[in-house]
Formats: sequence, C-alpha cells, structure tokens
Amino acid sequence: MSDPREPFPLSSLNLRRLRQDEHVRALTREVHIQTEQLIQPLFVAEGIPTRQPVPGLTGVCQETATSLLQQVEADLEAGVRKFLLFGVPLARRERQIDWSYTAGQITALKRRFGRDLWLATDVCLCSSTPHGHCGVLTAEGDHVDNDASVQELTQAALAYAQAGADCVAPSDMMDSRVLAIRGALDRAGLARTVLMSYAVKFHSALYGPFRVAADSTPRADGLKDRASYQLDPARPSDAWRCAQRDLAEGADILMVKPGLPYLDLLRELSRAIRAPWAVYQVSGEFAALEALAAQGLAHRAALHREILTAFKRAGAQMVITYGARYAREWLAA
Ligand code: PBG
Ligand code: ZN
Repeated sequence: MSDPREPFPLSSLNLRRLRQDEHVRALTREVHIQTEQLIQPLFVAEGIPTRQPVPGLTGVCQETATSLLQQVEADLEAGVRKFLLFGVPLARRERQIDWSYTAGQITALKRRFGRDLWLATDVCLCSSTPHGHCGVLTAEGDHVDNDASVQELTQAALAYAQAGADCVAPSDMMDSRVLAIRGALDRAGLARTVLMSYAVKFHSALYGPFRVAADSTPRADGLKDRASYQLDPARPSDAWRCAQRDLAEGADILMVKPGLPYLDLLRELSRAIRAPWAVYQVSGEFAALEALAAQGLAHRAALHREILTAFKRAGAQMVITYGARYAREWLAA
C-alpha cells in the first residue's frame, strides 16, 4: 500500500498515452483537412493545339477550351468542386485590354457545370500585358502606374463576374483595387460576387512554374521584377496594413501567399483579424514537395498531409493547392 500522503508523482506524466493507437489519436485530433475547403487552380491558354503539361506541377496542364471542360469533369469526380481559373489569352496589350477570352471560358464552364462548381477567377494583368507586369507601365517604363492599372483590373473583374464567376480574386497588388472592384460590381448589380483579395502576397522566388503556365514572367527593360508592388518578405508589418486595408475596402476573403514560408504571419493575422483566411500553396512550394517525393525521399501522401495540416493549424480556412485533385486519395492513404 502506498502512503496516501505521498505527493502526486508528477514525474509519471504520461503524454504517450494519447498517442498509442489510431483510435485515441483520432479522438484527440484538433485539426482536420477537409477536401471541401481546397481550391484547385486551372490554367486555360488560347492558341495551343493540345494541353501542355506545366513543368514541376504534377498533373497540371495549360488546358485548351476543350480539355478544360474534361479536366473539370474529372476533378468533380475526384471530389473537387472549388476552382481558381487563370486565363492566358493570345493578344497582349497595355491598356483597354480585351477580357473576352477568359470571360468566354467562364461562361462555358458555368453553362456546362452550373452550381456543381464554385468558380473563382484570378484578376490580374500579367498574362495580358506585353511585358508581363501585373499593371500598366508609366510612360518612362520604369514603374507601374497604380490608377491606370486599377482601371484595367476593374474591367476584368466586371467582365468575369458578368460571365458568371462566383468569385473574383485580384492578385496584382495595386493600391485601392479592392475598393474599385467592389464598387463597380455593386453598381453593376453583381452584389453576390465574392471578392477574395490576395491581400498579403509577397515578392517571392517560389512563383517559377506558375509563370510558365500563365506566360507572365516580367520582361520590361525598365522594370525587371515585381518588388515595387508585391510585399517585402523582410517587412511583416506591411502584411498587417494590407490585410486591414483590404478588409476595410470590402474584401470578403483575405489570403496569405506563399504559404509555408509565411506561416508565422498566417497564424498571427488569422487570430487577430476574424475574417475568412485563404492560403495559397504556390507553384514553387508544391513543385518542391513533389520533387522530394519523386526522388523517393518522402512518402508523397504523408508529406502533403503534413503540410496541409500545418496550413489548417496556422488558421487558414481554405487552401489553394495544385494538389487538390489528389487530396481525397492522399487523405485515404
Ligand atoms: C500573378 C500571380 C502569381 C501567382 C498567382 N497570380 C505569380 C506572380 O506574382 O508572378 C502565383 C501562383 C503560383 O506560383 O502558384 N498575378
Ligand atoms: Zn499578375
């Protein structure tokens, strides 16, 4: 018999008890990945004879108008119902851009699939300008003209919403574009169109495969990169100002992008600013994980589950990932 006056033996604290089998692990889990909160990006490109695989992004192609519908049909069967569309038109110009190519793809998708899918459309200029910048250049060609860019972006958002997009998602990083787009949508009777802002989008080296897919590499002589409009990774306070500003301007959903290198900000922002948060696992992040798995150095499904869990733990509701179409398989494996 032990002495009841003995102090409680703290040294015996047994934290492995709740890790010992799959049942107790499942019962105590706090974070869940749900396929209904994953968004699959899609690329549709004008003038390609057949669908073109995107280097580094397993299973992702630049689609033709025809293959786009086939891909979405397959994705719906795989349990994916939320998409983020990037249109890549042939014609490129600086101002008074014609948005009808991408708008036409939206119309076709909605005509075919209706409310079976939720279709967000990326709003930006970089696949439509001759120089690949996300905005209109000034006459000197060494800076992006904010207000001229916002005018073009607003027209794009209107065209996409009129074509039936459920959501428009500006990714350009111009000031006041959320205010301009929300106002234009509301005045056009499109109050139900959701606005997801790429609010906290960093100037990152992880966008490589995407720029091949979207044909959007910046190539102006006077302006080589996007540092003058995307956030500096070394100035996190700017993330707060962007998030608060975009929410105040009428954004419904806020985003952090890329994901993994900015989990610290996703955690802090999602706790402090109670709005729906999205995280974009960008092309370079996804390609890096795929490369690790392809070399046999990681279990592919376990690797992706772990990273998706990190996004949920950090406070994201939705995750934009090139792997959405594999998620059901990965979660079951
Ligand atoms: C461009 C845009 C980018 C992404 C989405 N929209 C890249 C960039 O800023 O060059 C990145 C997506 C990815 O890498 O997966 N407006
Ligand atoms: Zn862009």
